[in-house]
Amino acid sequence: MSVITNIVEKITREDYTLTDILRAQQAYHEKRRWSIHEVISERKLTSFSQRDRAALWHAARAELTTQPAGIRMAVQGVQLAQQIEDDNPLGAMVLQAAAAWSARYWLEEEAHHEVAYGLLLEMTGLPPIEHDELVEHRGFFPEDNYARVCMLQACVEMEACATYGQVAKTTSDPLVREIFSNIARDESQHRQYFVSFARGLLESGVYPVKDVLAMAYTWVRPGAGETHGSTRKQQSKRQGFVNWWERVNTDEESGLALADEQIRSSNLQATKERSLFAAVFEATGIKVNSISELERAYFKSLTQPDTNRLRYSINQGTSEQVCVAQ
Ligand SMILES: [Fe+2]
Ligand SMILES: [Fe+2]
Repeated sequence: MSVITNIVEKITREDYTLTDILRAQQAYHEKRRWSIHEVISERKLTSFSQRDRAALWHAARAELTTQPAGIRMAVQGVQLAQQIEDDNPLGAMVLQAAAAWSARYWLEEEAHHEVAYGLLLEMTGLPPIEHDELVEHRGFFPEDNYARVCMLQACVEMEACATYGQVAKTTSDPLVREIFSNIARDESQHRQYFVSFARGLLESGVYPVKDVLAMAYTWVRPGAGETHGSTRKQQSKRQGFVNWWERVNTDEESGLALADEQIRSSNLQATKERSLFAAVFEATGIKVNSISELERAYFKSLTQPDTNRLRYSINQGTSEQVCVAQ
């Protein structure tokens, strides 16, 4: 039991129905469920450090930003599926699968993360997140190209997985380690889902490859990509929605600033880049080994339509008419 990574192949070659896909999602979710209250139970933090505190301050806030994205992906996925149902039923199925997963499991699992980090944060003696800050993080996630958003979310999940994994590896507190490890594992399977949806949308001809490559490149582009977080000279202003990297605490005096190795060491950056290249390959079939290769692949996809040819050519002939992204 695992994530279905080749949705289009399953539908076209193994006759999977939407119901089959949704049942597989449910089975995998049930298999992976864990309870925060059972893990924490009567346990106490025994040896948390200042770094663990800073990590919790950030993680608890980062997790607040997921709910608006989950709601947007659920609603927009169904809307797009309805729009293309007649012209591209295969693409509509991929969108229905992505919308259902977002509404049912992604939102539910991210709720675990929000509550777990919130409880641990308070156990370290830091104040709870206040009402106004919580509500501010519930601003609506913007509507965008669905394939690009799938890739964006895959990137966010990889970022979370790498950052939380680093805390799990370096903390001396067993409870902090357990919670961060559990959540990092959840984020890793979320990344798999988002990559599989991006791949499904390309292979069913709903979006061209360039959209996924554009997002991957934007995420990691030298000096300005989102993996650089608060080190960028200027943060983008967005209306309504708060991105976690806009709220990175860099005030050394606060005792809550993240140490470099917790968020932007060269090792961590290399891990993030490797994960991104793997995700690009899984979603598009295009192999890149460096940011400059990714840049070349992206630019090529803008000017050479051949790069946008579907890997399996399963749904040839439909992509021209039903590309909702054009
Ligand atoms: Fe999360
Ligand atoms: Fe996640």
